[in-house]
Amino acid sequence: MSDQKKDKEPKADSAPVGFARGLTNYGDREFSVYLRRTFASSMGYSREMLDRPIVGIAHSASGFNNCHRHFPEMIDAVKRGVLAAGGLPIEFPTISLGETFLAPTSLKFRNLMSMDVEEMTRAQPMDSVVLLGGCDKTVPAQLMGAASANIPAIQLVAGPMSTSRHRGERLGACTDCRRFWAKFRATEIDAQEIDVVERRLASTAGTCAVMGTASTMAIIAETLGMMPANSAACPAVDADRLRIAEETGRAAFGLIGHPIRPSEVITANSVENALRVLLAIGGSTNAVIHLTAIAGRLGLKVDLQRLNELSDTTPVLVNLKPTGEHYMEDLYAAGGVPAILREIKHLLHLDCRMVTGETLGDRLHDVSWVDHAVVREFADPVRETGGLVALFGNLAPRGAIMKRSAADPKLFEKEGRAVVFDSLEDLANRIDSDALDVTAEDFLVLRNAGPTSDSAMPEAGYLPIPGKLARAGVKDMVRMSDARMSGTAYGTIVLHITPDSASGGPLALVRNGDRIRLSVAQRKLELLVSDDELERRRAEQPPRAASKATRGYAKLYEREILQADDGCDFEFLR
Ligand code: FES
Repeated sequence: MSDQKKDKEPKADSAPVGFARGLTNYGDREFSVYLRRTFASSMGYSREMLDRPIVGIAHSASGFNNCHRHFPEMIDAVKRGVLAAGGLPIEFPTISLGETFLAPTSLKFRNLMSMDVEEMTRAQPMDSVVLLGGCDKTVPAQLMGAASANIPAIQLVAGPMSTSRHRGERLGACTDCRRFWAKFRATEIDAQEIDVVERRLASTAGTCAVMGTASTMAIIAETLGMMPANSAACPAVDADRLRIAEETGRAAFGLIGHPIRPSEVITANSVENALRVLLAIGGSTNAVIHLTAIAGRLGLKVDLQRLNELSDTTPVLVNLKPTGEHYMEDLYAAGGVPAILREIKHLLHLDCRMVTGETLGDRLHDVSWVDHAVVREFADPVRETGGLVALFGNLAPRGAIMKRSAADPKLFEKEGRAVVFDSLEDLANRIDSDALDVTAEDFLVLRNAGPTSDSAMPEAGYLPIPGKLARAGVKDMVRMSDARMSGTAYGTIVLHITPDSASGGPLALVRNGDRIRLSVAQRKLELLVSDDELERRRAEQPPRAASKATRGYAKLYEREILQADDGCDFEFLR
């Protein structure tokens, strides 16, 4: 072999790195290297750069994703870190899921994004990858994809929005969005004022400013060990956010010589740590679905009975909306995620390995100051028990979820009359009708909004208080469905009833006027109708309508979608 040819080969004593890895096979390996370098050279890289290991930057910037509008400067900062460490950073776009810009719902496309991340990190030549996401479904999609590809990966998030002001009051998306909309529905504020509020609620780059799904998933990613320490809560517009991005780039390069793969970080113990933290932060109900899906990619099961056991012994410590009063920027100032972890240290598996090489326990040594107004001490919690609870019973044989930390305890032990809405359209048509037969003591029931329905499990579980009750001052009542709820929402709301009604779950059998019993203390959700009567109703059920999906992703979704207790992942991806 000529010296020239040898020069194009990766070093004989190591696996191919950078552009020399994952070659297209033309039946002549040297030609493949030559051709790839030829085209990479057309991007203006020097020979020294072409020889470097590559850190991919999988980013989800999009004009349809307001939360990611600062990604260009974050990508620059990641590149700075990679270059300084000796690597070649190469950014590439993946699908982006802007929470409020997708129909029927962003969840429908989370699995599609996970496939994009998995396949593109595997198919393109990179030695490690930075996953840059933030808005609700993007982080779980990236972690699911990375877990399946199992190449060295590190997560970086957008960081939360900063708050703004309206008439002296702090505003942050999106708990305050709902609060002001409820005031508008109850005619407490007029159209002019809601118009002003609309322009102030989300006024910076970054993810929702409260403990919504994006904040929850960022904190879970940090707890799992897939992100650098204290990187979840830093505001999107803070200079620290760019320093974190630079540090992430360096850390991603560090993974190349000493690979730590997602399967070594996301383990049964780190998933249990994540569940503990989810409960301690009063986190989003959506996180149960996402964590189940991420863990499921590695063959790990999230058991809702175990969630209940952990919930009994994990107090809510973080005083953030919608459970409490503060915002994500306050959490960062209060000490961030390490401050939370330190308070529940005795409940955690501290030997879990972090993607940055240390253990979870190692990360807690540096916590020197905590603002206990925001992160309460273990002995002085916001709530004595965890934020979430799973309910079971003949209405939810495989479970349902309730965020008790954002609900009214006066409604926890209650029997009520069912007022049933058959679909989202039915709900929209009748909820504000003065003719609706409803009182504040009733239970609102929505069905055909689960993962197998046409609406694909939207965040519609936060059923509005019927117009006439809202105007009469009713702020909360028991509501239940097979839908999800935004992490920024609040109320006595039962979600993710499984199996869902479109797949023939018992929710499909509820009729107006049935009695339902909710008991948070006993973890029960019971339809008080005899088994015989339910069987009779089941026999009378019309056959499921013919599928509307004839081709493409909708067809794939319909064929493969799993229920909430399997993380709403696709069967063939697990
Ligand atoms: Fe992106 Fe809330 S809309 S996180």
